[in-house]
Amino acid sequence: MTTTKVRQMKQAGEKIAMLTSYDFTLAKLLDEAGVDILLVGDSASNVVCGNQYTLPITVDEMIFLAKGVVRAAQHALVVVDMPFGSYQISEEEAVRNAVRILKESGADAVKLEGGEEVLPAIRHMIQAGIPVCGHLGLTPQSVNQFGGYGLRAKQDAEADKLLKDAKLLDEAGCFCIVLEKIPAALAAKVTKAVSAPTIGIGAGNATDGQVLVLHDMLGLNTGFKPKFLRHFAKLADEVNTAVTHYIEAVKDSSFPSAEDPVKRGHLRVNGYDHLPHTSYLIPHTSYIIHHTSYLIHLQCMA
Ligand code: KIV
Repeated sequence: MTTTKVRQMKQAGEKIAMLTSYDFTLAKLLDEAGVDILLVGDSASNVVCGNQYTLPITVDEMIFLAKGVVRAAQHALVVVDMPFGSYQISEEEAVRNAVRILKESGADAVKLEGGEEVLPAIRHMIQAGIPVCGHLGLTPQSVNQFGGYGLRAKQDAEADKLLKDAKLLDEAGCFCIVLEKIPAALAAKVTKAVSAPTIGIGAGNATDGQVLVLHDMLGLNTGFKPKFLRHFAKLADEVNTAVTHYIEAVKDSSFPSAEDPVKRGHLRVNGYDHLPHTSYLIPHTSYIIHHTSYLIHLQCMA
């Protein structure tokens, strides 16, 4: 997937499926299932690190998470959130941090929150060849300014500003724009007014695509159920059942049993099963013995 293909999907009327992703194993599953865009969201601050807000996560932490997602992505475009403080101070710093994120993680694009206020930073990044995804509406890095996570742009003034901001981001060359928690009618209006695809979350279904936080849509966060969220699975229950059975099996000594392949001792590298230890070690050991005896032989000859 490329940013050009994402734009073409809007023109072709093909909806764009984006999900957040924070690690190799799950990113591989999402990629294999055919997700178009993997977003290494700064929601990692909440669902991975357990913080109340997205604000504490750092550029280094985002790069660490993005590396695993990039290694897994064979098909999907990987977009990384620029964390709070990494693009607001100056345009130079914004470009420097975006360059670091792309160079060190191997991701395809960055996303950042805000409209006119961050336009100079966005323009500099795009001039530097960095694909940028915008984010308007409920921008969680501004939670302290908003005073909560409620619906945005309900009043005309904020709705007018959002429409204007979307047009500015579009003109600046953003390849897509996330619209979070705004009225569906406004999201539809923005979607018609811009050439960049819009990706909605809690913004109705007239947008060009949808994004959800993976842990929320998989039902891993049982305590979090905003109105717009659909649980596509109930993984918290699955995990609880599996772990309860594991604990019981350990406590009553039924695990491991004769059927469990402990003797084969699988070696796992990068999430894949490799050769059993024994067959891996035998040629390796014979190579060391052979090599060592050759060196002894050379020393004796000298
Ligand atoms: O960080 C995130 O997960 C996001 C999505 C909610 C769009 O920005």
